[in-house]
Amino acid sequence: MPTTMDTFLKFPENFLWGSAVSGHQIEGANKHSDWWHWELATPEQPESGKAVDYWNRFEQDHELLAAMGHQAFRIGIEWARVEPRKGEFDRTAIENYRRMLASLRRHGIQVCLTLHHWVLPRWVAEQGDWTNPDTVEQFLRYVEFIVDELGDFPDLWITLNEPMVALLAGNISGDFPPQRRSIPAFRTCSRNMLRAHAGAYALIHKRRPDARVGIAMAYPYLEAWGTPGLRGWYERRTEHFTRTLLFRAWDRSVHTGRLHPFFGKGKIDGLEDSIDFCGINYYFRMSLRFSLRKWNKGFLDIDSIPRGVETTDMGWQIWPEGLAHILSEVWARYGKPIYITENGIADADDQKRPGYMTGHLKQIHTALQEGLPVEGYFHWSFIDNFEWKEGFSMKFGLVEVDPADPELKRTPRPSAQLYSRIIRDRGFTS
Ligand code: NOJ
Repeated sequence: MPTTMDTFLKFPENFLWGSAVSGHQIEGANKHSDWWHWELATPEQPESGKAVDYWNRFEQDHELLAAMGHQAFRIGIEWARVEPRKGEFDRTAIENYRRMLASLRRHGIQVCLTLHHWVLPRWVAEQGDWTNPDTVEQFLRYVEFIVDELGDFPDLWITLNEPMVALLAGNISGDFPPQRRSIPAFRTCSRNMLRAHAGAYALIHKRRPDARVGIAMAYPYLEAWGTPGLRGWYERRTEHFTRTLLFRAWDRSVHTGRLHPFFGKGKIDGLEDSIDFCGINYYFRMSLRFSLRKWNKGFLDIDSIPRGVETTDMGWQIWPEGLAHILSEVWARYGKPIYITENGIADADDQKRPGYMTGHLKQIHTALQEGLPVEGYFHWSFIDNFEWKEGFSMKFGLVEVDPADPELKRTPRPSAQLYSRIIRDRGFTS
């Protein structure tokens, strides 16, 4: 019950409300992709299978989106579907994507389109994925095809999703395919992906001068845990280093056009200022704590949680204040419009999601009051989906789906209703 002390946090009329998904995580049967084959070949890795079969059930999902009051939806195109074999573009796939996008338009829902969300066609993986310079040209050919075929639909374009996360997981920690542990490969891939972004940015703008193009970057809030003395110094240094490495490296490169030294030397043509808006994916705080036991992880413990801090089913710290820091930092540094391209929580019983959502929206509201140009919010996720290494065990959806249910029935969680009310009222009481 609201009390007299409560205030209504009103968002601007033109603030865009939506939620986000990616192709591989919801479509199902992405059979020509590197992930699909890696899932099959890796015993301990869950399989994406038919996921939530969005590929065939999108109409029903769009009705639900519309009923919830969504104004925008962030979806991904899978390169592996569009070009399952080198040079062969699949008309059936493109037509299905066209129907999908047309259906969103019919429902009056704006589209934020991601062109690459971690997954590659298998043939690209087999030629050495992003270590191979040919991949850049091939990616641009795919992007050109999408712009020609579907370029009418997107209101916002995202060239790459969280490139740093995928690069680190695929080349350093070895968690994602191709499970390399190689710094040289990491650097080569980073440079090639930066080239791919610059090329895609130019290409989209050439065909569609008014397009708004960005990257969805991962911005964990990193914080030294503050052991006094030398260890504290070490933690603070590592905080600085990790931050520079985790996201400033990409930011700096795409805004200045010069490679961050971490990626090597030089400038990439067309990279400078190749961002029309900053896409922020924000989920958690990561506390960095000195630990002798973690000698093999650079003496850093990133998993322990300060007492009293709530966590999600992923074990991530719930820390809405971190978003306020990220927003001011990104605005001060780059001065571009901002979209929250992802923010959400794995929470199977939906107990923490309402507070998580309003907690983060509150920080966005404060930022808006301070004059920051935050233009929209995409909750991750619209629907339960394939959470990469964790498979379907992590429930990020506003809408619940049991992957074992043959009907794959969609059931909105209470937080979906809360989100609908927030959208309808353009705010909420806090
Ligand atoms: C970021 C990624 O873009 C998305 O694919 C993932 O599911 C969410 N984070 C949650 O981990």
